[in-house]
Amino acid sequence: MIDGKKVLFSGMQATGNLTLGNYLGALKNWVTMSDEYECFYCVVDEHSITIRQDPAELRKRARALLTLYIAAGLDPEKNCIYYQSHVSGHAELAWILNCYTYMGELNRMTQFKDKSAKHADNINAGLFTYPVLMAADILLYQADVVPVGIDQMQHLEITRDIAQRFNSIYGDVFTIPEGYLGKVGAKIMSLQDPTKKMSKSDENPNASIYLMDDPDTIMRKFKRAVTDSEACVRYTDEQPGVKNLIDIYAACTGKLPTDIEHEFSGKGYGDFKEAVGESVVSVLKPVQDRVAQLSNDKSYIDQMIKKNAEKADYYATKTLRKVQHKIGFPDRIR
Ligand code: TRP
Repeated sequence: MIDGKKVLFSGMQATGNLTLGNYLGALKNWVTMSDEYECFYCVVDEHSITIRQDPAELRKRARALLTLYIAAGLDPEKNCIYYQSHVSGHAELAWILNCYTYMGELNRMTQFKDKSAKHADNINAGLFTYPVLMAADILLYQADVVPVGIDQMQHLEITRDIAQRFNSIYGDVFTIPEGYLGKVGAKIMSLQDPTKKMSKSDENPNASIYLMDDPDTIMRKFKRAVTDSEACVRYTDEQPGVKNLIDIYAACTGKLPTDIEHEFSGKGYGDFKEAVGESVVSVLKPVQDRVAQLSNDKSYIDQMIKKNAEKADYYATKTLRKVQHKIGFPDRIR
């Protein structure tokens, strides 16, 4: 609890271009949650180096992501928006928690298996202990709630296990966090293969809508979106392409899938796709405009980065000192 509010923590990596899926599935939900909780929204740059990164590119993307958080509607005066690497407590707590995590547990992580298959030439120890750093992120702020995508649920489970294990040895040190899966838009699928999640690392640029795509590009991608030969706008698993477009339209307009079926009954996919495209443009355009505006205000962003890193550091240090004391490290002399 901070000032009588429950604590929310979440983070995203600044690698790859964020997609509409990231926006509807995560960012948009974050904005709606930001009044109810005391929120920490982190740009997890330390997680990114588990895969080799170009330094200039990483720095640029981290800044762009942080700017996007604000552009999407997270007020940096109310929400703590910061870079993981600016708060040393993340790495320090991760080291400690490494000593309370078993190799066997980490070996079961599906993301580790996937990523090590994909990057067979660089299976580094950081990739293996990635979930421990994530546990540190969450536990440092005594988070109650952690909005995540379904693919991160296993990491949230291990976070809870580590926290419970630690608490059972040392008493109530950590709050046990709950995962929160957003309702709508949590699973926006690829426009080219609606059985696959829309991904920022898809090789086919037509498969994903990127948050910074201009209106023409967005409209073109929806025109090319894979549907089927049913010629009927129905919300059914038998028509995964159409279903995905309905989900997108629903998330962008707030309409219900059944109402959308009615709206397009007797109409062709052409009209439907155009409406979906326009709904996406009208959601993304204001965010894009705000990114452009904020990018011109370097000193404002700089000031927010400094202020929020200090705020995050304050809470992180509080937890870290408690942990260090509990496990028997000598207290600091003041
Ligand atoms: N691993 C998460 C992802 O790739 C990002 C992340 C890092 C995160 N630390 C976190 C998410 C803590 C929630 C809470 O999506």
